Amino acid sequence: MTGIEELGRRALADIAAADTPAALEQLRVALLGKGGSVTAQLKSLGALPAGERKAAGEAINRVRDAIGEALGARREALESAALDARLAGETVDVTLPGRNPGRGGLHPVSRTLERIAGIFGKLGYELADGPEIEDDWHNFEALNFPPHHPARAMHDTFYVSADGSGDRRLLRTHTSGVQVRYMQDLVAAGGKPPLRMIAAGKVYRSDSDQTHTPMFHQVEGLLVDEQASLADLKGTLVEFVRAFFERDFEMRFRPSYFPFTEPSAELDIAWQQPDGSTRWLEVLGCGMVHPSVLRNVGIDPERHTGFAFGLGVERFAMLRYGVDDLRSFFDNDVRFLRQFA
Ligand code: PHE
Repeated sequence: MTGIEELGRRALADIAAADTPAALEQLRVALLGKGGSVTAQLKSLGALPAGERKAAGEAINRVRDAIGEALGARREALESAALDARLAGETVDVTLPGRNPGRGGLHPVSRTLERIAGIFGKLGYELADGPEIEDDWHNFEALNFPPHHPARAMHDTFYVSADGSGDRRLLRTHTSGVQVRYMQDLVAAGGKPPLRMIAAGKVYRSDSDQTHTPMFHQVEGLLVDEQASLADLKGTLVEFVRAFFERDFEMRFRPSYFPFTEPSAELDIAWQQPDGSTRWLEVLGCGMVHPSVLRNVGIDPERHTGFAFGLGVERFAMLRYGVDDLRSFFDNDVRFLRQFA
């Protein structure tokens, strides 16, 4: 029965040489499948003389079992080799440097706003808020800009609607309207001075060049008490400027004009230029609250006095960070903004 022995030897060699599960499966079908060569041998047994069948049958069964075992062993070997290869390919090198997720940061204007609010917060000023779309009364009228008063020309106003009446909506040109709202709300709630508030936010003027953008940020401050004086105003603002820049300056209060303060002033600081010389720089407007403003919100100007100030946040940010074009704050170029994060 050399035929079956020879078939078995070749089958085992083929199985050992099969290097994929698919090749192995093909061999299994070709050997042990319905039309396979070993199966064919079994089928041919019936044609043998009766005396030879037993021995031949035993020989074929031995070969068939050996082939079955070899197929199983080879399959296991191939599977474990495949697993090893996958594990080797998927190893994680924990010593590689991590990927930077690119952390964001606050915009320099926001940082400056927070810094200013923090300083006044320590001085006991309450943070207040008001709408950016304001009405004529809060933005102008209550602040002593009568209709058609030439002082309105100081502000290049964006009007949202113009229906001809006194209640025109506009993009607020300054944060001073929040003074009015804050005092009105206080009086309406049955409160009265003393009060201290600051308000921060966006304001809008039709204006654009290296030091003006149509939208910018202001911080407004207001204090009302029984004996608030110009000296208190000066002391507060000098302290604020020192705290903000963390150094001392020569400063001057230069007489100025705002309809809602009397007297009014601009605060200038002696700013050192890159060449070592100093130059007066205007940093904010301020003054004693005009009696008409107090009267407009129901506070008795015979009993109470107050002071107010308003500053441009971008101007403070530019000075602190040495930025020379205001517009770069709003270009949203991350290469610029990242410097402050
Ligand atoms: N609102 C003024 C401006 O925008 C600034 C200011 C505020 C002046 C408060 C005096 C008092 O220019």
